[in-house]
Amino acid sequence: MSSDIEDLRREIDIVDVISEYLNLERVGSNYRTNCPFHPDRTPSFYVSPSKQIFKCFGCGVGGDAIKFVSLYENISYFEAALEIAKKYGKTLDLKKTSKNERIFIAIDKASDFYRESLLRNEKVAEYLKDRGIDGKTVKKFGLGFAPSSEELVKFLQKDGFLEDYLKTKNLIKLGEKAYRDLFSRRIVIPIRDPKGRVIGFGGRRLKDDNTPKYVNSPDSEVFKKGKNLFAIYESKDYIREDGYAILVEGYFDVLKLFSEGIRNVVAPLGTALTYEQAELLSKYTKKVYILYDGDDAGRKAMKSTIPHLLKAGLEVYPVYLPEGYDPDEFVREFGKESLKELINSSPELFEYLINTARENIKEKTKEFKFYLSFVPDEVKSLALLEEFAIKNKVPRDVLKNYNKSKNLDRTDKTKTNNLRFKEKLLVKGLLLFHPKIDVNKLKLRKEVKDLCINAIEGREDEIPKEILEYKCSNIESIFPKILNEFLNNSEDSKRKNV
Ligand code: GTP
Ligand code: MN
Repeated sequence: MSSDIEDLRREIDIVDVISEYLNLERVGSNYRTNCPFHPDRTPSFYVSPSKQIFKCFGCGVGGDAIKFVSLYENISYFEAALEIAKKYGKTLDLKKTSKNERIFIAIDKASDFYRESLLRNEKVAEYLKDRGIDGKTVKKFGLGFAPSSEELVKFLQKDGFLEDYLKTKNLIKLGEKAYRDLFSRRIVIPIRDPKGRVIGFGGRRLKDDNTPKYVNSPDSEVFKKGKNLFAIYESKDYIREDGYAILVEGYFDVLKLFSEGIRNVVAPLGTALTYEQAELLSKYTKKVYILYDGDDAGRKAMKSTIPHLLKAGLEVYPVYLPEGYDPDEFVREFGKESLKELINSSPELFEYLINTARENIKEKTKEFKFYLSFVPDEVKSLALLEEFAIKNKVPRDVLKNYNKSKNLDRTDKTKTNNLRFKEKLLVKGLLLFHPKIDVNKLKLRKEVKDLCINAIEGREDEIPKEILEYKCSNIESIFPKILNEFLNNSEDSKRKNV
């Protein structure tokens, strides 16, 4: 019986494979030795039999057994797989390899390429240092830097993975020999699935220029933004150990907190948190602290995020940062101990509402009912209702008529009925033309902004059907005008409400 790469990976043992090349020393449940891929005086190269991966904490290289052989012998991933299979007396049928397998290998290659290019770029290292991101975190996340598009193309072509990588839409073919890497000249932040496989990237600009602050991998066959969380792979062991997760808004909030030794942190991928992301988080913990930015946008985002977390059965602890601070800035100014204190002193959502309701009974009762309607556990919500009624002397009947069934509907339907005509055209145009613009520069209402980000990044499943199917034959000529209106000042269109 011949097997595919997936089978091979399951059947071999990474410790066996690497032991053929290196002398591994046992430390606890792992093995270590000096790294063969960079000058290493202390043993920084670790092999984990339970995870079946290797990782060097000195240079950041890591992966599975096949990748090790491919790097060590300087052969392609598939040649390495064939060689290992032969040693194990197995026949490997590469034709059986799924097409996504090749795409994941291509992404992994790009990720290695970016990581190595960061090692050669002092400016980027300086930037990260200035922002308080320590070397350990840079390596743990495998942060990188994207040089010119041409260099990436050359690198991928060498191993024959260019065509596979194009499927990620991270690299766009412009012409016969012209390509554009979406992340070119940016700091590259790899996004991994819970198994540790790189599935996409976030790219931050290095300087405040007119380009968008971040560019994210578009949704594709292998990457769905609404279904993955940034840093879930890096943080999941800490989340389990600490018994709770901290949810922040930004990539750099995660990176900064990791650098400070707070490592049970995750973030959404540049858009509002979805129910599926909450569900993913609930696999690792039942308790989440929301540490969103201390501004209007952050508080609004918190309010729309809490229902999803509650629906996923999570216990929610909102943490309020002082006005104008994000977690990164707060830690920089007040230190990590202050942040820990702030977190530890933040009460659970319902406990807080129950205990402070008397300050503004009408408003708080409304808020309590709103959030309660998302609690899936009937026994729990009845107990909370009882407690609220007794402590605040509110009749139970006032609390009971919350609209549970409606709010527990788990499908996030994309609605258009509140979109204005020009907003629909804008979204349509962004979807069709992917212009290189910074959405933050457009004057938009919050719900339209999220849609626009989704459109630019090609997340069709987040775009209302009505817009996808809308036919507008002259959109090519109208769109630039519409875009300009939103860029300059939309006072006009607002007043007319079109
Ligand atoms: P710094 O400004 O470097 O501290 O970044 P940050 O990670 O704190 O990001 P910020 O709070 O500004 O935004 C939160 C998250 O929203 C980011 O991490 C990105 O995921 C996303 N985001 C911010 N700006 C943009 C943008 O211009 N385009 C896209 N697609 N996403 C963005
Ligand atoms: Mn920030």
